[in-house]
Amino acid sequence: MTSTFLHGFATASYQVEGSVDVDGRGSSVWDDLCNREGAIVDGSSGSEATDTYHRYKEDVALIKELGANSHRFSLSWSRIIPLGGADDPVNPLGVQFYNNFIDELIANGIEPMVTLFHWDLPLALQKRYGGWLDKEQATRDFVNYARVCFSHFGDRVKLWITLNEPFCTSILGHSLGVHAPGRSSDRTKSPEGDSATEPWIVGHSLLVAHASAVDLYRREEGEIGISLNGDWCEPWDDSEENIAAAQRAQEFWVSWFADPIYLTGDYPSCMREQLGDRLPTFSKEEKKLVLGSSDFYGMNHYTSNLIKNKSGPAAADDYQGNVEYTTVGPNGNPPALGYQSQCGWLQTAPWGFRKLLVWIYKRYGVPIIVTENGMPVRGEGDLPIEQALNDGPRVDFFKGYLENLELAMKEDGVAVRGYIAWSLLDNFEWAEGYIPRFGVVYVDYTTQKRTPKRSAHFIKQWFEEKQEKEQQ
Ligand code: FCB
Repeated sequence: MTSTFLHGFATASYQVEGSVDVDGRGSSVWDDLCNREGAIVDGSSGSEATDTYHRYKEDVALIKELGANSHRFSLSWSRIIPLGGADDPVNPLGVQFYNNFIDELIANGIEPMVTLFHWDLPLALQKRYGGWLDKEQATRDFVNYARVCFSHFGDRVKLWITLNEPFCTSILGHSLGVHAPGRSSDRTKSPEGDSATEPWIVGHSLLVAHASAVDLYRREEGEIGISLNGDWCEPWDDSEENIAAAQRAQEFWVSWFADPIYLTGDYPSCMREQLGDRLPTFSKEEKKLVLGSSDFYGMNHYTSNLIKNKSGPAAADDYQGNVEYTTVGPNGNPPALGYQSQCGWLQTAPWGFRKLLVWIYKRYGVPIIVTENGMPVRGEGDLPIEQALNDGPRVDFFKGYLENLELAMKEDGVAVRGYIAWSLLDNFEWAEGYIPRFGVVYVDYTTQKRTPKRSAHFIKQWFEEKQEKEQQ
């Protein structure tokens, strides 16, 4: 990878491509979840999304127009290997699509940053052996898929991300049951699943699969890492118990995956204490494989929360470190947790970004690439387009977060190698359907017309200034 600061936008296959049954693509667990009654808030699916499968040239032109020098996107495993497995055939048309996409980016001077897995597991693998619940088989198939991708695209792609947010696959997919494959102990959500054990098994498989794919890639010339999501966990007040609770919550979020990869080859002790034998154990070989298996820290960050201790034993399905999350501070004030976005989980707190950057860099000491950061303006989808384009709250969001990024770099000495905003386009926001709009570019879903919002111009200017300063 070049030493140039990377800046650009991110998307993910299922959220933008559409064309789910075109040119031999197989189904993924997300196609399946979208068919489940009530799973997606607006009853929609990614079957059309932003039609990027057909409009990728237009999108690349936009990316260029907005001044990006890199673009993060994910490959659809079931487009490349429709049935997913190591013995299943590769789909040449799927490979062709990504070859075209990559060529188009490169022809426009944009470096591809490619995520192998952004949640859309081939459905056949879920049905065959339970997907990520089966560490051996899932690892074998993921490594084979990675090998196919490295061999077809590796001549032009030099920056890879194995997995996007394994936390979400584990917790949202196998405990809360709101993401594919939609498993949970809650029988109103899912006919099967066990929230007390499955997320930890799945998390372990994901770590081993990630590290095994990295091990394979080490023979190539390029860089490879993982993207982990994390909110900043701020203590509710300065009492000792709440300070300890916030630290524990941070470790359950981030260190679950980051400690094994960057620090110890093992899970944080607070997780072992709370989860006991429900948390899998790394074998000696796994430990060796996992420790050091990422060239950078891919950081997806959106929001912050205030954390209070909970007394008494943790619930069997607790995944947060036995704490309470709140946005309301002591005395009923929501201190600096500001603007409430369209998503209930996301309130603007730019200072939390700086704190988390520092926390991560101190603990893990590896360079960070911010691989996602963005915000859906409240009610944007209900506004006439002229008003939606004037997205002041999103401009404020980026302004605040980018200022804090600069402060973390300049004042706190955090090594940051790139900043990738979420997202290029409004798109299919998983269980929340098309209601939240995260794009800096507005998408009219009836015509698929793309129109940059005010925030796109703001970010473009920041990108240009960053590039100018770099060149000085
Ligand atoms: C992240 C996901 C991404 C997008 C944003 C809003 O957790 O990685 O696909 O949905 O949230």
